[in-house]
Amino acid sequence: MHPKLYDILRSMICPFDRIIQSIPERDGELLDIGSGYGTFCFILSKKRPGMKIIGVEMDKKRVNIANSRIIDSQNLEFICDDILNLSTSKRFDVITCVDLIHHIPMEDHLFVFRKINELLKDNGLLIVKDMDDKPFYKYLWNCMHDLLMARRMTTYYIPKRDMVKILGGNGFVIEYAKDIPNFLYAHYLVVCKRSVLKIK
Ligand SMILES: C[S@@+](CC[C@H](N)C(=O)[O-])C[C@H]1O[C@@H](n2cnc3c(N)ncnc32)[C@H](O)[C@@H]1O
Repeated sequence: MHPKLYDILRSMICPFDRIIQSIPERDGELLDIGSGYGTFCFILSKKRPGMKIIGVEMDKKRVNIANSRIIDSQNLEFICDDILNLSTSKRFDVITCVDLIHHIPMEDHLFVFRKINELLKDNGLLIVKDMDDKPFYKYLWNCMHDLLMARRMTTYYIPKRDMVKILGGNGFVIEYAKDIPNFLYAHYLVVCKRSVLKIK
């Protein structure tokens, strides 16, 4: 599919504007994990021109397409890596996970949240946009969507109420969690701040 067409379809499905509203209007560095073809990062770079945006994505083809679309002076960079293996001394002001978590196996979720905690500056912001498992028809619809788009039968949804508990128990202070209304997709957004992680 042509990247521009993908951007249009993806923007019709995913409420990027609502996610961007939760990102402060200031300079700083933002890491977008699971950046795909870069659709979200390209939209964000126009709305937050003072921010340096880095997308990390494990699929090399997607990273190459995203990088080939960068215009010279843009505040963007895409790197190919698996978040489970990413090694960097950089610390970010904001980290976004847009429809990433339900693609990561359940057994790796805690590791990923702890890694995100390490990658954030003190008081850094984590923004998770994911899908709820209720109502059932929306859940079913999203499973079908993932089957068609990602060609995967297995996805690992964390309902909003559990996401809030998991993040709250793993080094984050919840600012707010809310549903984003849509007639087909059960979108939700959780915005939280890094706090000191106490490993039990
Ligand atoms: C549903 S797509 C969302 C893409 C993009 N965030 C967007 O909203 O358009 C999920 C992306 O996460 C990537 N992904 C899944 N697991 C990953 C991992 N462990 N590390 C990095 N990227 C990952 C997938 O390859 C895929 O491109």
